[in-house]
Amino acid sequence: MRPVMDSIVDAIGGTPLVRLDRLTRHLGVSGTILAKLDYLNPGFSKKDRAALGIIEEAERAGTLKPGQTVVELTSGNMGTGLAIVCGIRGYPFIAVMSKGNSEERARMMRALGAEVVLVDQLPGSVPGQVSGGDLALVDGEAKRITQERGAFRADQFHRDGNWRAHYRTTGRSSGSRAAGRSTRSSISSARAAAMPA
Ligand SMILES: Cc1ncc(COP(=O)(O)O)c(C=O)c1O
Repeated sequence: MRPVMDSIVDAIGGTPLVRLDRLTRHLGVSGTILAKLDYLNPGFSKKDRAALGIIEEAERAGTLKPGQTVVELTSGNMGTGLAIVCGIRGYPFIAVMSKGNSEERARMMRALGAEVVLVDQLPGSVPGQVSGGDLALVDGEAKRITQERGAFRADQFHRDGNWRAHYRTTGRSSGSRAAGRSTRSSISSARAAAMPA
């Protein structure tokens, strides 16, 4: 049992690992397959770790100033993590999202205090199917808003705070909990996004 925490941000990470022995047997492989239950993070995904990692690295580097607005392109996962972290740390957050993404995600981010900007899909696009072209439109709008508001772009696809959060926390906690049980582990969240051990 973890101690009482000072903030919801402290509840990010430290998620359980579960042995998938039936799957291991079914696949007929040797070793141990473990599931990392990152949907138990406060924002329901592993992106909470990346959101915290990017914000904390930017705070340390001084590239994110106190009270500065944060902007990010998102389909809702990273945006939910950023809405939580920014809400606690005092940064207004703007999630820029395609109209083709889920309306529920937009509502969830708004409920967490984010401003959500929805971007039209390309003509002829299908709602629920966000194409590369749709994503480019969202990226363009995120860039425009970032410049207009003098904001900090979280930039999940490029900032090292993203992968480093997993290197420092997901990998380490999985590795230490699995230590002694397997010589090599392949870790994935319940959302099936794999990462190397
Ligand atoms: C097509 C596409 N859109 C958006 C994202 C960003 O996702 P999110 O911000 O919801 O984590 C990703 C992946 O990370 C993606 O592949």
